[in-house]
Amino acid sequence: MEKKFRKIAVLTSGGDAPGMNPAVRAVTRKALEEGVEVIGVLGGYKGLIENTLVPLSPRSVSNIITNGGTMLYSERCPEFKTEEGMAAAIETCRKNNIDAIVAIGGDGTFRGATDLTRRGIPTIGIPATIDNDITATDYTLGYDTAMNTVISLVDDLRDTCESHARCNVVEVMGRDCGCIALNAGIASGAVAIAIPELPFDEEAMFEKIKSVKAAGKRGMIVMISEGIPAIKGGDYCEKLTARLNELLESRFSRLAHIVRGGSPSLRDRLTATEMGVLAVELLLKGESNVVICEIDGKLQPVEINFALILDRMYKNKLKDGDLDMFSAEQIDEMRAVCAKRKAEIERLYQIARDVCK
Ligand code: F6P
Repeated sequence: MEKKFRKIAVLTSGGDAPGMNPAVRAVTRKALEEGVEVIGVLGGYKGLIENTLVPLSPRSVSNIITNGGTMLYSERCPEFKTEEGMAAAIETCRKNNIDAIVAIGGDGTFRGATDLTRRGIPTIGIPATIDNDITATDYTLGYDTAMNTVISLVDDLRDTCESHARCNVVEVMGRDCGCIALNAGIASGAVAIAIPELPFDEEAMFEKIKSVKAAGKRGMIVMISEGIPAIKGGDYCEKLTARLNELLESRFSRLAHIVRGGSPSLRDRLTATEMGVLAVELLLKGESNVVICEIDGKLQPVEINFALILDRMYKNKLKDGDLDMFSAEQIDEMRAVCAKRKAEIERLYQIARDVCK
């Protein structure tokens, strides 16, 4: 392996996710194994601006594989987008002889990574967010743990729903992506699921609940992704619960940040470890400005600009000129990824309709 760098830094940025710690551990140990020193940046890009760094050794990352959150702490950092913020971050890299960076986080993290690469600090991204909302990758670290946390909490809610013949409306995180609600909703037998990607027929839900109640169903779960209140109004879940309460006794639970904590699942530990190792290997081979993606079960680097624009295409947020830098083949590839993701969501939604009753 070509040893291009003597010292790399690793940071976690944006909302924390279970799996960040296992990724930090893997990056650290693999780099040290290759004879490269490793620095941890505390507090994401803010730490890079403020020069808050810690040296990492194989022992300083011991046992963190079992911990949720991130030992390197995380922040959302608007200053990083400013000229002064970026200049301070580059200065920190120069002063501390940081040759390259592995940045672990979501889409905001990758925008930062691309800016750093452009300014001469090669950076590679590892996707970590419970939302699974980075279109270029089938999987983001933290997603599996978050879904398992949701089903465990909803299973507990179901016990009490069943005892009292109640309905519990459950709102789960996911920003504008319904993946957690959809998958965890199916896995916890939710009688109805509402996600921002697809129209939600509230009247059909009422009819379904009437019919399953008449057929003897006692406990019911209605799973709402947080993107729905964002579309229909902030108190949508409370209003829906009040309306449901006229049909059967109903309660509302917003699971919120509890879903973002907890010990990483096997999937998150393993994928984080593989992604961390690959990130270091690629950096040492001279690659940068890529995010490690899982595509059809295989890890592979995807150019960050491609990933960011693909994301905008999927979310219908393309701006004028966004596609100018891409070839016709690349644009076709983006369209195919968007179509595949949409089809998968529709497939699962249909399964929920057919099976959860
Ligand atoms: O992106 C992860 C996430 O937990 C989203 O699901 C949620 O919308 C958001 O972050 C919450 O952000 P904050 O932690 O800043 O409240």
